[in-house]
Amino acid sequence: MAKHDIDPNYLDPNYEPVVNHSENLPFHQVLSARMQRRAVMKGTVGAALASVMGLGLVACGSDSDSDEDTTSGNTQTPGTTERTLGFQAIPVSTANEVVVPSGYSAEAFLPWGTPITGSYPDYRPDGTNTGADQEQQVGMHHDGMHFFPLDQKSGGSSSEEGLLVMNHEYINQSAIHPNGATVNTDGSRPADEVRKEIAAHGVSVVHIKRDSNGVWDVVQSAYNRRVTGGTAMDIRGPLRGYEKLVTPYSLDATATRGTLNNCSMGPTPWGTYLTAEENWHGYFAFDTDVAERPREYARHGVGGSSRYDWEKADSGLDQYRRFDVTPTVDGSATTDYRNEANTFGYMVEIDPFSPESKPQKRTALGRFGHEGVIFAPAKEGEPVVCYSGDDSRFEYIYKFVSSKPYYAATAGGYLLDEGTLYVARFNEDGSGEWLALDLDNPAFASKVNAAKGTTVGDVAFDGFENQADVLLNTRLAADIAGATPMDRPEWGAVDPNTGEVYFTLTNNTKRTEDQVNAANPVAQNKNGHIIRWQEAGNDYTAGFFEWDIFVFAGEQGTETVVDGDAVVTLNDDNIFNSPDGLWFDYNGRLWIQTDGYSDETFGNQMMLAANPETREIKRFFVGPQGCEVTGVVTTPDSKTMFVNIQHPKANWPDANDPRPRDACVIVTRNDGGVIGA
Ligand code: FEO
Ligand code: CA
Ligand code: CA
Repeated sequence: MAKHDIDPNYLDPNYEPVVNHSENLPFHQVLSARMQRRAVMKGTVGAALASVMGLGLVACGSDSDSDEDTTSGNTQTPGTTERTLGFQAIPVSTANEVVVPSGYSAEAFLPWGTPITGSYPDYRPDGTNTGADQEQQVGMHHDGMHFFPLDQKSGGSSSEEGLLVMNHEYINQSAIHPNGATVNTDGSRPADEVRKEIAAHGVSVVHIKRDSNGVWDVVQSAYNRRVTGGTAMDIRGPLRGYEKLVTPYSLDATATRGTLNNCSMGPTPWGTYLTAEENWHGYFAFDTDVAERPREYARHGVGGSSRYDWEKADSGLDQYRRFDVTPTVDGSATTDYRNEANTFGYMVEIDPFSPESKPQKRTALGRFGHEGVIFAPAKEGEPVVCYSGDDSRFEYIYKFVSSKPYYAATAGGYLLDEGTLYVARFNEDGSGEWLALDLDNPAFASKVNAAKGTTVGDVAFDGFENQADVLLNTRLAADIAGATPMDRPEWGAVDPNTGEVYFTLTNNTKRTEDQVNAANPVAQNKNGHIIRWQEAGNDYTAGFFEWDIFVFAGEQGTETVVDGDAVVTLNDDNIFNSPDGLWFDYNGRLWIQTDGYSDETFGNQMMLAANPETREIKRFFVGPQGCEVTGVVTTPDSKTMFVNIQHPKANWPDANDPRPRDACVIVTRNDGGVIGA
């Protein structure tokens, strides 16, 4: 099959095509502006000023709710609010090593290929591990990650033993095989190479334990597990049984195989792990020469050839053939895999404490390029609320509110199967609104009716046949609702002290002067920013919120100005670009990780810590060459930190190994103290 790429960059596994052509510009729809506070980004010399109206949340104090500890908090230590940054900021670095502050140590852990299950096959540095080996080893391109204390289910909070669960977003084909990807003379690919590549994706669950010398190691345990791009999974929620998810594998549209491009994640209040399917569109081939792309593919960029050509595996097995989603002549959804890509684009629930359990695709949270998910603290008797960003240029931020209330004793994934999905609209005046994507919502139903017969972006819109159709086409529904197109929403985080919700907006160099809006005020936004909001009345289920910009990233001298005062001026200690990973630790320090460009100014990608109250920001960690720094969590005592290094370009962590290996890094304080304090 010829390559029919819709975009020349399509084969870049980290590339998100611009597929939102809806031209939502809510900025222009705001009738009145409540200009109470004015936040301005000032760039370095020569950079244009960009202004944004906001309500300035800097003065928000502790939320009185934080005292009533009915929150599940899972691994959180209640009542600790120490957020000062006690370490010496480190300078930028271009070294091919991890750099941490004086008094700290960093050690690589669980590199790609580490054996964790089955026969525990050793990693072979010559690339000759088989597909079967890879299914028993840690995958590639580590990303989002969480530490579950081993005694969590019994109410404990061990910092000595737990399940480290991590995503493997994509792969480096050059490093995974002895000599890169093989293409047979007939254009097919060796099936075992494909098997290995699929196995290097997904999620690893690793039982780890700290010995009396403080050294962490893998426990050979029944908990250890690989979930891959081929693992059997259930479809749950409104899309379960929907005809557009029918495949030869699941004639009743209740199941599928695999999770792919798992970027970030979110631990649930009931102790499970949600993994996000982000740039899944690139794994499927849809021959646009022979068939017209349905809107559920076009709005995501499914089209042309697949990133890794898995559908060309020379065994011709069904498990590989399914990546060709082109409708066959005279075929149907029960005889070809035209619908396979409709079974991707979800948040997928994995119970790390039940190694035999089947992962569950939770479709009520919407189908888009999920970067991750962040749960608001769960409260007894109230709905479960979580937030998820769609990381592509000009895409949106969503919120899910469950229909059923949370009770700690009975909570489970079923809470994610019924509820309302909302999308965010950031108004010019610092207010914001959650727009329901629900045909039973009169405002949404009215907009859908008005849009019928028109063209929404590139889609000739003829309506939604039901709520399942709405969720299958979440992006299109959000276009119609009038959501605010953002500068690539990546991770979210909820401040445990104030309840404010933070999101990274990593960058968007495609945004023009005409396309700026109040929440995305920088044209050609190459460095990104971090936005935050507080729900009305500190009620996470609220329909309205107030937002502000926490910080604009950039070079030395970049100012974030509120009411004329520079509340942040970046300097040598904290310049950064392209914020991506974001996490509040259990004391309320904010950790910011980057996945951007490296040059003489910024050096390698990094992680910084921030005090959200004062907006003090300090560089804490710099990764090796070519990597992104992503995935961060600590043990409940905040004394062991796990940080992931993805796609290092050179021979890291072992200079003697010919292949770069993605790995976790364990950071500790030499005096055994709290990280960051
Ligand atoms: Fe996989 Fe949006 O980073
Ligand atoms: Ca990311
Ligand atoms: Ca990124």
